This record gives sequence, C-alpha cells and structure tokens, in this order.
Amino acid sequence: MNKPKMSLHPSIRADRLISNLGYGTRKDVHALALSGQIHLDGMPLKDVTRKIFLENDLPERLTIAGKKMDPLPGLVLIMNKPTGMTCSHKDTGALVYDLLPSRWRARKLKIVTVGRLDKHTSGLLLLTDNGVLTHRITAPRSKIAKRYRVVLEHPLRGDEGEIFASGRLVLTGDKTPLLPAVLEIANDKSANTFNVTKQIMSRLVAFVTIYEGRNHQVRRMFAAVGNHVVSLHRDRVGGLHLQNDMPLGTYRLLDNNCTSSIFDDTFSSHNKCTYYLSNSKAFRVFSPDTPMPIGSESG
Ligand code: URA
Repeated sequence: MNKPKMSLHPSIRADRLISNLGYGTRKDVHALALSGQIHLDGMPLKDVTRKIFLENDLPERLTIAGKKMDPLPGLVLIMNKPTGMTCSHKDTGALVYDLLPSRWRARKLKIVTVGRLDKHTSGLLLLTDNGVLTHRITAPRSKIAKRYRVVLEHPLRGDEGEIFASGRLVLTGDKTPLLPAVLEIANDKSANTFNVTKQIMSRLVAFVTIYEGRNHQVRRMFAAVGNHVVSLHRDRVGGLHLQNDMPLGTYRLLDNNCTSSIFDDTFSSHNKCTYYLSNSKAFRVFSPDTPMPIGSESG
C-alpha cells in the first residue's frame, strides 16, 4: 500500500495555488489541466483539486504550458530601479511594476515595493508579497541602514557630515530631529573624465547612510545645508548590496540568506556609535549630542 507523502511544508489545492499566481480563474486552470498543459514531476497533472506541498523546489517541478511555474507566494525581489519610474500602483506614468512579468500583477497576494524610492532616484529597491517582511524592514523602530550615492550641485562645504551626524537636524515641516546619519566623501574614480579637478569632483560626490525613511529625506537633508541633489542612487539596504552586474531595470529573486542580510546593518548594530567625516577628520557619536574626534582621516 502506498503511504501518503508527508512534508513539513503546508499544502494547497493545485488549482487554487495556480490561480492565485495569476494564471487565470480556477476554471481556466482546470481547462489547462484537461488539455494536458500542467505537469508535476514530468507527469501530466489532470486532477488539479489535488493538494500539493509548497516545497521550495515546486516551481522547478511544476510546469505550465511547458514553462516552470512562477515563484511561490512569499517572494522577495531586488531591483535596480531606473529613474523616471514611480513606486506607486496608482500613478499614471511609468511604474516599477511595469518591469515585472504582466502575470505577476494578477497574483492574489500583491507584490509591492518595500518602502519607496522617488521617481528620480535609482538603485536598490525591494519588492515582496510578504506583508510581515515589509513591516519588519520599514517599521521606524527597525532603523535599517540605507546608503545613497549622491551627486551634488555645489561642492561640500565641509560641515555637512557633522550636521548630519548630530541628531539635531530638523527638516522643514518635520517636528522631530533626524537620527544621526553618516556622510562619506566618495573617492570617485571617474573624476578625471570630467573637466574638473579630482579635488572638486570628490566634493561633489558623497555617500550618505540614513537609518529612517522620511519623505525625500536625502534631498531635503542636502537642501537644509544649502545644496541641491543632482542625482541619487541607493546602493545598499542593511547588509544587502546592489551588485554591479545588475543592469538598471532588472530584478532578481532573493534567497533567504540574502533576505536576512538586510537586518545585518541597523542603527542599533552600531551600538548607537556613528562615524562621520568633517573637514577630513573622522568623528564618532556615542549619543547624538556628543561628537568626539577620533583622529584624522587619511586619503
Ligand atoms: N531620499 C530621497 O530624497 N529620495 C529617495 O528616493 C530616497 C531617499
């Protein structure tokens, strides 16, 4: 006698799963199955009322019209967002969701962006259908590091790092000061391609790491110190880096390890000890109010 297959994974009726992934109504899924277009482990799956286990390798084993099934619910994507696209579902212009396969928009569990990047900001954007994960990343108490490469209109004055790290900067319209943020001067290798000296160029390009996500935060921070952000690109969220080999407009599925690396770099992981640069000196801040010089920065 065949023993029923056991698994630690939850199970779901095949028609329900496939329909929830955007392949059509349950009736459409039954029609696909009856016409022999659904296969499980190489065998036609005619009875789609059958329960199947949500095992990680299921999308490899279940094919629909000859193609691997779409990723299971609970997916996490990393995208290199181009400028000119919004993170909204409602905007009338180009949306980041336009970059995903159209069927993914019909999934029962909606794929949404984890926080937002402005229309004119590019770089690392996370998307998921996992609401719990979204909340864990975006909740104000998470304080996950987010690093941006900033190109400025005017060279840095030299005091911006100290102001950003102070924990005392209140942006126009806000009631509470910003958490300390870290400013690093970019050692930009492309400096020579511009007709300006390396020194000036290095003061036009910086990296800033913030631990919260207020509206247009980085642009407003630089406006608060009399500058203007010409271009903004996010290259890191927590311990997750955007790889150089990911062209703009592309995305990848994240595995569990990469997803958990997001939580590796938070404000608290620095024990509230923040480093910043000011007039070529490195400072660290134990509490937002007491910056202590820790020596000169070389190079
Ligand atoms: N700060 C901004 O100003 N814009 C973004 O998109 C993200 C951070």
